[in-house]
Amino acid sequence: MYEAVDAELSRRGVLAVGAASMAVSVAPAVGSARPAPELQPSTAHVAFEVNGERQALELDTRTTLLDALREHLHLTGSKKGCDHGQCGACTVIVDGRRINSCLTLAVMHEGSRVTTIEGLGSPGRLNPMQAAFVKHDGYQCGYCTPGQICSAVAVLDEIRAGIPSHVSADLNAPSATTSDELRERMSGNICRCGAYSNIIKAMSEVAEASGTPA
Ligand code: FES
Ligand code: FES
Repeated sequence: MYEAVDAELSRRGVLAVGAASMAVSVAPAVGSARPAPELQPSTAHVAFEVNGERQALELDTRTTLLDALREHLHLTGSKKGCDHGQCGACTVIVDGRRINSCLTLAVMHEGSRVTTIEGLGSPGRLNPMQAAFVKHDGYQCGYCTPGQICSAVAVLDEIRAGIPSHVSADLNAPSATTSDELRERMSGNICRCGAYSNIIKAMSEVAEASGTPA
């Protein structure tokens, strides 16, 4: 019996000594604690042209082009779907090429010409691609539509410029506006409403009206 009590006491004693030594080792040395340095966001000046107007912004260097357009210039036509370059809802045209604006930093576009859906046309003066989307019901909820239309406009420019795609059979032949070509080139623009067939009809009509090779 006495042996059992002694063993219990000595076990408690060992634990107490251990806890005390731990406390000493983790406690900061008095007088040596320094406040953590305050992190300041790094900002930069960037100027570019958006829909024909010069814009100059002072931005956190981590600001994406999409956030600069939406949050700083209040051009909310470009949509944020995934914010990971996977859906195409944020597609805009920069210097004639379509890009996912969520995947690029605004400060990388000093001096660029940016066109968003607001710059393609207006309710009273629709761009032919906007009008064709309306005519052919190329949307349902409309969330993906600004990106689809920017992409569609740029796709026809790519075809006119003779740029081949992964489904072009002959890389040296002029590109065409076949359904396969249009679907492949638009594959980065996801439509959760599944309006794909009508989008292709709209694009085909604009391509034909503008004399783009069929
Ligand atoms: Fe940019 Fe989806 S929001 S690709
Ligand atoms: Fe709804 Fe395309 S129209 S996601």
